[in-house]
Amino acid sequence: MTKPTTHRWYENSVFYQILVGVFNDTTGEGIGTLKGVEEKLDYLQWLGIDCIWLSPFYASPLRDDGYDIADYRAIHPDYGTMEDFDDLIEAIHARGMKLITDLALNHTSMDHRWFQESRKDPHGPYGDYYVWGDDPNRYPEIRIIFTDTESSNWSFDEVRGQYYFHRFYKEQPDLNYDSPAVHKEVLSLIDFWMDKGLDGFRLDAIPYLYERDGAGGESLPETLEFIEKLRAHVDEHYPDAFMIAEANQPPAETREYFGNGDRVHMVFNFPLMPRLYQAVATSQASPIIEIMPDLLHLPPGTQWGNFLRNHDELTLEMVSGPERELMYSSYLPDDSMRAHLGIARRLAPLMDHDRAKIELMYALMFGLPGAPFLYYGEELGMHDEPSLPDRYAVRTPMQWEPGPGAGFTTSDTPKLPIVGGEGLSVSEQRHDPDSLLSFVHSLIAARKAHPELGIGNYESIDVAEPSLLAVTRTLKAEDRVIPSDPISSAPLVCLYNFAPHPIAIPPQALAGVNGVGRVVIGSFDTAAEVHSGDALPGFGFVWLTA
Ligand code: GLC
Repeated sequence: MTKPTTHRWYENSVFYQILVGVFNDTTGEGIGTLKGVEEKLDYLQWLGIDCIWLSPFYASPLRDDGYDIADYRAIHPDYGTMEDFDDLIEAIHARGMKLITDLALNHTSMDHRWFQESRKDPHGPYGDYYVWGDDPNRYPEIRIIFTDTESSNWSFDEVRGQYYFHRFYKEQPDLNYDSPAVHKEVLSLIDFWMDKGLDGFRLDAIPYLYERDGAGGESLPETLEFIEKLRAHVDEHYPDAFMIAEANQPPAETREYFGNGDRVHMVFNFPLMPRLYQAVATSQASPIIEIMPDLLHLPPGTQWGNFLRNHDELTLEMVSGPERELMYSSYLPDDSMRAHLGIARRLAPLMDHDRAKIELMYALMFGLPGAPFLYYGEELGMHDEPSLPDRYAVRTPMQWEPGPGAGFTTSDTPKLPIVGGEGLSVSEQRHDPDSLLSFVHSLIAARKAHPELGIGNYESIDVAEPSLLAVTRTLKAEDRVIPSDPISSAPLVCLYNFAPHPIAIPPQALAGVNGVGRVVIGSFDTAAEVHSGDALPGFGFVWLTA
């Protein structure tokens, strides 16, 4: 199999996250399949997606929706076969698209053979694969992440007569990275998937690999060192591949995962994400203006993965107390929508279904430095289902058509309920020029015509208006990732209004386009001229060229 490759392709790609089980059912069982993903590649290609991210589809008891892996080398039978996976990857590459998968390496499912062996035979070959101990109070500094269900990071195993350590559900024992055998296993399973032609993977929960007495157990030097080992391995064997880290850590610590460009290629932009919501909630640009200096000047070959929502709760673990309170008061009208410390809602309901706010959030995700990650269904403004437990509120089936099965399934009893809603399906929105889907489609096209949005220089313009974020983006020849990327002849000016009322565009905001901007996309007609003093509507945005 040949795959199209371009060095550093990921830096300016548009990503799309799919949960296989809720995307498209081809068997009538009410569960999505790998074949179902393949059937929808035309749609994803039309939308402008460069790379698909598949959340775990491995053999699993699904205690944590597949992030509890029971066999890294097997496909969950509900989703299809290994042959289906091979077909999918081939079909994706035939379209010039790419595929990354999710790997949970911090822990396995209790059902994994390694754990079963480890609990039975402490002195056998798997005896030290997990973190065992006799003292359930060891590592008191390590926080509990799944605060809704777990009261300790240790659980007692009757079979072995010892406690085992787990960061997440008790059914997800942590692997012991002090065991060289575990390192070997991990590298070998990475080879297994990469040899199938994958383009990279997401490193789930990667900050938590090691535990040490007296430490919080996150981003330990040993963990960062293991990531370097992983990177060296991938570089040696699969030089075009890339890894993105899920490192939900404080901003400075998050950057550690880039190293000097010798750790991961990308890191999810956890520092930026909550600030986008804060800016909308407070009508102030300052939450974004203040964080940006911490996010610029990355080592070469590295990039942020920008996102608004994903399959988890809108995480609030790393924001300050007052910021968390602000987020709760703005976005958590009902406690049933809470999951752990965060909020399990989709974007459209979070934005009160206000179209201008939704578009503004999208414009920020696609317009600030980084590569955008869309979560399935968000391009339609899909609703959520707060009555569902854990984080399933935001994991309901994709809506392809109106009507009972939403074009997702022919089953009357899908595994997860279909939320529905008038106008909230691909078939209703695809040919409606005023739909959110059409907007996202145009936004992706605009973003691709302007690579400076992802990788170019970022300069914030001082304006007296606190609700206005004004930014100039410029691409220099040396920024080009793909040699055929156009070099804009002039900078792009991006304006974002966080106030509910219109703002007169101040003259200094347009300096980068010599006082007159031509609309690429935004709250004015495309190609219209914009002058200083023109009104940028409430929660409006515009990207302008000279
Ligand atoms: C990551 C995943 C989340 C999962 C957890 C444990 O945070 O995004 O869904 O529950 O890891 O694997």
